[in-house]
Amino acid sequence: MKPPRSEAAKRTLGLWRDFPRSARLHTNIRWWTAPFEALEVEVPRSGNILEVGCGHGVFTTFLAVSSVERRVVGIDIDAEKIALAKQSVLGLRDGEANLSFDHRASGDVPLIDGGWDAIVFADVLYLLPLEARTALLAECVDALSTNGVLVVKEVDTAPKFKAQIAQFQEFLATKVLRITDGDALDFPSAAELEGLLVSDGLETRVARLDKGYFHPHCVVVGRKTQT
Ligand SMILES: C[S@@+](CC[C@H](N)C(=O)[O-])C[C@H]1O[C@@H](n2cnc3c(N)ncnc32)[C@H](O)[C@@H]1O
Repeated sequence: MKPPRSEAAKRTLGLWRDFPRSARLHTNIRWWTAPFEALEVEVPRSGNILEVGCGHGVFTTFLAVSSVERRVVGIDIDAEKIALAKQSVLGLRDGEANLSFDHRASGDVPLIDGGWDAIVFADVLYLLPLEARTALLAECVDALSTNGVLVVKEVDTAPKFKAQIAQFQEFLATKVLRITDGDALDFPSAAELEGLLVSDGLETRVARLDKGYFHPHCVVVGRKTQT
């Protein structure tokens, strides 16, 4: 568990200060339990960045507030979360961030001229069955620019005690409280995700981001070196 430390992190969470308690609680818990400051470092400081499955848009907004050189778009299948994300960024000043949100169906990845410089997932792919996960990643690789990166953050399946905490929490969120939309609950290991990116032709590396957290956070970064 880690509090927001940087000015950009505090600014991002501050945007939720006047929201109803449920949204404030959700966004704060998300921040304290996910390694967003370490993940931000994996994303290029400039260029066109897409976050797929952005939810309330906390990480999307943090990316954009951290560097105005980033043009960031967040998409999600949950219309209510996208509406909240849009509302939250009304509190930003002109020029403070380059950012937008869009409600999209699953698998509807927007394409841009030249491709995205980065496409980011933060705790989304465990909500898709293997076949859909594989297809979505392949679609995202196609949508990247040459030299673009796919940044995939998930919770690993090891160590087991940390994985069980994360999996129980996600079971509550999807099946009991129903605060997260998704078709499946199928946690891929970091090795499995890396294998998918390698088979899509990316050059990959894996890093653990779970020091100081209860969850086995990890990130797989894949670079598209050829088209
Ligand atoms: C655990 S939340 C993570 C939200 C955000 N990435 C974050 O880190 O705070 C998972 C999100 O993935 C979204 N989602 C699930 N399946 C999706 C899909 N096929 N395409 C896009 N988003 C999806 C859900 O609606 C939910 O907002």
